[in-house]
Amino acid sequence: MPKYWPIALAAIVAMVATMAGLQASTDATEAWRMASRFTAQVGFPFLIVTYSASSLAKLWPGEFTRKLLRSRKYWGLSFATTHSVHLIALLNFLNSLPEWPPISGLLPGFLVYVVIYAMALTSNQWGYRTLGKNWKRLHSLGIHILWLIFAATYIGKVTEPEHFPIAGIYTAIAILALLLRIAAWRKSSRLKNPG
Ligand code: HEM
Repeated sequence: MPKYWPIALAAIVAMVATMAGLQASTDATEAWRMASRFTAQVGFPFLIVTYSASSLAKLWPGEFTRKLLRSRKYWGLSFATTHSVHLIALLNFLNSLPEWPPISGLLPGFLVYVVIYAMALTSNQWGYRTLGKNWKRLHSLGIHILWLIFAATYIGKVTEPEHFPIAGIYTAIAILALLLRIAAWRKSSRLKNPG
């Protein structure tokens, strides 16, 4: 199997999510809103695999987790793929509105896209060499920002019937992924400072 298969899978599910959104309503704004929603939803599993790969490898070293860790870059690029389709959907959503909301409200979201693309473009030897120590800073901070946005969004929707059961399931997964990170970090600290 080619190592970039998660990216191909991400492209397919993002297309399917967009088509499902567009089928959901005959009203253009509503249809693109649903396409935005579904493309965010299908991206989350790719993000969580990327976020959790190093923790799983630390907590349960073995063939499977080692392979997962080695392919983490492709899972990250897969998330960048689904979220690029989210970007297309949300731009269509904004264009379908009578007028765009104030740019000040949209700016934080677009800045997060700058982070996503900076991470994607530096996910290679060139990026690693060029950024040096800043590579880890960018990727570590970036993945936590992405986790935080998804976790906060789904926690905020958990009691809304319209978002049942996805918001509940995704909230639980996001919290579990954070707990894995904490457990892996504690294990590493114990190994570095025994006793
Ligand atoms: C200015 C930039 C952005 C705009 C205008 C935008 C727009 C949208 C829209 C219209 C929806 C559907 C809302 C609904 O269901 O009622 C949505 C959902 C969502 N977006 Fe974005 N988005 C932006 C950037 C981002 C970024 C950077 C992230 C994460 C890194 C993100 C994550 C999400 C999530 C988690 C959902 C919720 C999906 C759900 O309800 O299941 N968005 N966005």
